[in-house]
Amino acid sequence: MQKPTLKDVYRPTHDEAARHAFVGALKGYLNGPLEARLAGHYEDSIKPAFVEARGREPENRTEGTEAFREDHLYQLWGSSVFTSQDLMWETVGETCDRLLPDFEARREELANREPRGRLELEEGFVPPDPIRRVEIHRQPGGYFGQSGDTSLRLGMDYMGTGELYRAAKGLSEGDEVGDPGMGKYVLGALGRRFPDVDPGSVLDMGCGVGVHTIAYKQAFPDADVWGVDLSAPFLRFAHVWAEDKGLGINYRQACASETGFADGQFDLIVSHIMFHETWHDVLAGIMAEAHRLLAPGGIFLNADVPYQPERLTMTKQVTNHWQVVNNGEPFWTGFADTDVRQALIDGGFDPQDVFAEYDPLGTGQYFIFGGIKS
Ligand SMILES: C[S@@+](CC[C@H](N)C(=O)[O-])C[C@H]1O[C@@H](n2cnc3c(N)ncnc32)[C@H](O)[C@@H]1O
Repeated sequence: MQKPTLKDVYRPTHDEAARHAFVGALKGYLNGPLEARLAGHYEDSIKPAFVEARGREPENRTEGTEAFREDHLYQLWGSSVFTSQDLMWETVGETCDRLLPDFEARREELANREPRGRLELEEGFVPPDPIRRVEIHRQPGGYFGQSGDTSLRLGMDYMGTGELYRAAKGLSEGDEVGDPGMGKYVLGALGRRFPDVDPGSVLDMGCGVGVHTIAYKQAFPDADVWGVDLSAPFLRFAHVWAEDKGLGINYRQACASETGFADGQFDLIVSHIMFHETWHDVLAGIMAEAHRLLAPGGIFLNADVPYQPERLTMTKQVTNHWQVVNNGEPFWTGFADTDVRQALIDGGFDPQDVFAEYDPLGTGQYFIFGGIKS
């Protein structure tokens, strides 16, 4: 009989699934209808009060936050979002606790086979400041965990919350657990811009648990596919996840600004939601590294959150900034304030070969940016 693979192992029980669904629905309500109500309340009450006191509207998120701070609906929204985040880690954690031994057993079983891909972890690697000091998303243990802990648990937690969000948005219906939806979306964005793309080598920067890296090996089976990330726990998970699928993908622990690969090694470099989770000072180095690593004609294409302040209402600027201050998204507004097009040019890309655009995603949009190496 065929042994169950990890996508079959990750099965919340009926009660766990009900709790995940509750948290997903709660988050959907807080981010959707309640935030919309808050936006209406800003127009009807918070803004007029600010205008009366100052003779003008709030001009930026700092002033906006001042205007919102004492408001009861805003406080209710914030405390509920904070609680929903705790509930998410608690409920997904329960499932991961229960399934961890099964994941570890599958890892051991896979370790008896010749690996198809490499896992390059650097002994004594310390993630740089400031990222190593932050529990991003307030994930218990953060992205890096305790040194010496080699368990798959942090990777499972990350993957499990991804599943919770997918289910809440109705995206997991009919799809496998861990479907590389974002990877497929980026491949779509790539194909629309470069229909003939057929890379011999691909690098996924900030690949995390590798769920989306899979999409590139599936799309370009002959390509040499690599993922880099700062997090050893995530890379361990990514390696097992790819081996479980019988896919030869290589993973390396490195900062995206200093990967150790050769000049011109890659035809395609991608990232999915890495930039809003990396600190501002490293961004210039990442752009320059991508330019160095690309072969002539190679493509750099990234997808990230479209939260540039000029595109957002004041309420959305304030609620996003609340996430920065209170909910483990410390680099979010720093990225939103960055002139990405200029950063790509400063990194070595020719101005005429750079793009920074917004593509449709569901009912919203996503920020797609990058460049072609001339
Ligand atoms: C939101 S996660 C996204 C992971 C994956 N791309 C996905 O879509 O599931 C951001 C990832 O970027 C990684 N990261 C942040 N800054 C990095 C850097 N400077 N170099 C390499 N990885 C980085 C984090 O460790 C984390 O795994």
